[in-house]
Amino acid sequence: MPLRISFLRSLFILLLGLGAAGAASAAVSSLDLLPRPSTVLETEGRFPVDESFTVGAIGDPGDRARRAADRFLERLSGRTGLFLRRDDSLPEGGESRASFVYRCDRAGALVPGEEESYRLTVSPDRILLIAPTDLGILHGFETVLQLLKGGPGGYFVPCVQIEDVPRFPWRGLMIDSGRHFQPVDVIKRNIDGLAAVKMNVLHWHLTEDQGFRVESRIFPALHELGSDGRYYSQAQIRDIVAYAADRGIRVMPEFDIPGHSTSWFPGFPELASAPGPYRISRTYSIQLPAFNPGNPNVYAFLDAFLGEMAALFPDPFLHIGGDENNGKHWDANPEIQDFKKKKGLADNAALQAYFNIRLLEILKKHGRRMVGWDEILQPGLPRDIVIQSWRGTEALVEAARRGYAGLLSNGYYIDLCQPAGEHYLNDPLPAGHGLSAEEAALVWGGEATMWSELASWETIDSRIWPRTAAIAERLWSPAEVRDVDDMYRRLEIVSIELEELGLTHLKNRDMMLRRLIQGTAIEPLQTLADAVEPLRGYKRHSLGKVKTTLAPLTRFVDAVPPESSEARLFGRTVDSFLAHRDAGSAEALKMILETWRMNHDFIKPLLSSAPVLFEIEPLSRGLSEAAEIGLEAVEALGHKRKGHRTQAAARMKTLAELKKPLAELELAVVPAIERLVSATIGD
Ligand code: ACM
Repeated sequence: MPLRISFLRSLFILLLGLGAAGAASAAVSSLDLLPRPSTVLETEGRFPVDESFTVGAIGDPGDRARRAADRFLERLSGRTGLFLRRDDSLPEGGESRASFVYRCDRAGALVPGEEESYRLTVSPDRILLIAPTDLGILHGFETVLQLLKGGPGGYFVPCVQIEDVPRFPWRGLMIDSGRHFQPVDVIKRNIDGLAAVKMNVLHWHLTEDQGFRVESRIFPALHELGSDGRYYSQAQIRDIVAYAADRGIRVMPEFDIPGHSTSWFPGFPELASAPGPYRISRTYSIQLPAFNPGNPNVYAFLDAFLGEMAALFPDPFLHIGGDENNGKHWDANPEIQDFKKKKGLADNAALQAYFNIRLLEILKKHGRRMVGWDEILQPGLPRDIVIQSWRGTEALVEAARRGYAGLLSNGYYIDLCQPAGEHYLNDPLPAGHGLSAEEAALVWGGEATMWSELASWETIDSRIWPRTAAIAERLWSPAEVRDVDDMYRRLEIVSIELEELGLTHLKNRDMMLRRLIQGTAIEPLQTLADAVEPLRGYKRHSLGKVKTTLAPLTRFVDAVPPESSEARLFGRTVDSFLAHRDAGSAEALKMILETWRMNHDFIKPLLSSAPVLFEIEPLSRGLSEAAEIGLEAVEALGHKRKGHRTQAAARMKTLAELKKPLAELELAVVPAIERLVSATIGD
């Protein structure tokens, strides 16, 4: 059998000095907190966690904090195997003698800018958590769970003084339930994930060309004809909103109009700009249907519908989408053209601004502030709308300069399978933004955006986590916290902690691999999966097979997570070897390369009985070929043999071929192998 990849991983980590001991460089804390707090002072000693551990509040912290304390104890107990007291039977006045004491002054309101800070002091005999609001207490519980460590003497929390406050008030995740419906459990476990990394907004994209996902009692034809029966009942929505609120998370719904709206029209074709009839869209290209802005019934309808939704979603903000309306159905409708002329609207952008101003009146009536994508920023819109920028930081900075609050999502498109490190360095307020302090305060934060064209309920967690935690740190921690390697070190730890919340980002991979071979001997597939990554950006959308909502998302590419930590560690080991030429790195590289070289022989027998995997045969063969080239290079470098220029050029050509997409994946380890081969000439 191939060498166990986990062994090689451990070896890399050891060689690169990435273990707990190796991380304590001057610049970074050895603590594993993610997001990193604003200030951390590590002090002497540790607070031991054993079965005498109790939690108690000083004063009345409120029900939300009490329930959070109970969940905290449940997770602590689950992680440590300790039988911890979970009842309230501390003796009278005993709360203040508990091992972990917390106190807050009031319940936090779920509005942007609410006080979320906390102060945590861990000393050898006491943990003390103090916050102005219970929201700070919730964050502090998460911090303590991230501080927990085990040692020969048992579990403990290292002594520390933390003062923590978020950099941005709006730290969100958008989930698209429109393209692929995401069941209630998926939403709930992701809410728990958000709370664990101190994010505070779930932006819920509930309507799309491909699905209308919320029950309307006033207009039942919306969900009945627009969802294939896959929608959230109002009871489920209320349950999720309450679940999120209990974790300090706002739920902002999005009803994307006037475009992206096909699924509204099977039930209400008369509201559209073209006659119909309409069916839910199955494909992913930009769709033409749009609301008719010249039809007065549209506004009466939206008034009633949005009123119904405002009663369901208490958040003060409501997202109206507004993106990618291409106006073709407006251009093709003479009545709309007449309407435009009559109103003196110069173009479709002005017509959409008119539509938005009408919407704004409706939202005001229902007590909601408007949020929309970049496109809603048009002359005539008042300063109290909020712009969510999917087009770029410049648009956000420009909006702030003009007095509009904004959120960054460009650069946080986690559906595009980019590395966490890229998202991490994408700052809503980049250096040199040129805004005054007052203008900069209008940049409220950002949101990771999880569009679901290529994500099912089985795979969405792996597209969200752990990379969204890197975005959480960008939005919470001071701007100077930018050490990418240290972020990755902590991200791996947090990823495992996130699993205890029921998130499936790690475990579903192996489940899916087992399904592909209808068996349990998946090690060779794991080895291949560790060495590859799904195509980035929109390459999979354009080159891949998945063009409709009905396509299966169960193939090898779907099982593979967006970013390979093995490839990253391999790359770092290669660079370390090239810098130091040490025997340890050389041996580790040879072992992993030999494993990859042989792996194809182990994959081949699996393919013969799994036609669904035929597509990965060239990919697997490619890994073997690339590994062979890498082995040859490591050998040559180890013996200080000068490489043959022509031979190296031929190898580089082969590697360039092997970088091409196969089965909607790329061999993520090839760039590091290229560096090895280049070095053989450079010597
Ligand atoms: C968007 O990506 N169209 C908001």
